[in-house]
Amino acid sequence: MRSFDPVAPGPARLVVLVSGSGSNLQALLDASRTRSYGADVVAVGADRRDIPALQRASGAAVPTFVLPVADFADRSAWDSALTERVASYRPDLVVLAGFLKLTGAAFLARFGGRTVNTHPALLPAFPGMRAPADALLHGVRVTGATLFVIDDGVDTGPIVAQGAVDVEDDDDVQTLHERIKTVERGMLVESVGRMVREGYSIDGRRVRFGR
Ligand code: GRF
Repeated sequence: MRSFDPVAPGPARLVVLVSGSGSNLQALLDASRTRSYGADVVAVGADRRDIPALQRASGAAVPTFVLPVADFADRSAWDSALTERVASYRPDLVVLAGFLKLTGAAFLARFGGRTVNTHPALLPAFPGMRAPADALLHGVRVTGATLFVIDDGVDTGPIVAQGAVDVEDDDDVQTLHERIKTVERGMLVESVGRMVREGYSIDGRRVRFGR
């Protein structure tokens, strides 16, 4: 079992990694404006330029960095550079919020147990990049969002929190994903806040809040 104490005194330091619109990032930025939330976003990193998420970070005066995989000799060089850059901000917790790259061995060695990822399905159903579409194709009546601690698999790590969303008869991928994202943002904000304020432990596949 690994235990992580509440972060105190002062707000926990979050580094958030993004690839797209950044609505999950925005929810964290908004929550962190309240001091009692217990966390500050100290940096936002991306694997691509010119995305709304980076504008959201700049709008909140949060430092940003961009590390495209194509700028590095190989995936492992990129992963090492990402690890060093994230480490330079001394995060207590790293949040992958719509980050469309798999982090690698160096990142996991440094930030394992302290990195959460949000996924738009009720894992272990529908891992991967097309979760809302896969849920629709399969015809499930309930899907949702999952926050999990990353491990070396694809969307396989220990689960922190989940939120359910009904699939409506007239849903398409976009309407379903939008409703999932509403639930996802609330779940992310609440769970990250509890992780840093209460601490948490990881015992096999079970994650529990508190000391
Ligand atoms: C989220 O649903 C996330 O789970 C998925 O992509 C979406 C990102 O949304 N991987 P945003 O960039 O936070 O708006």
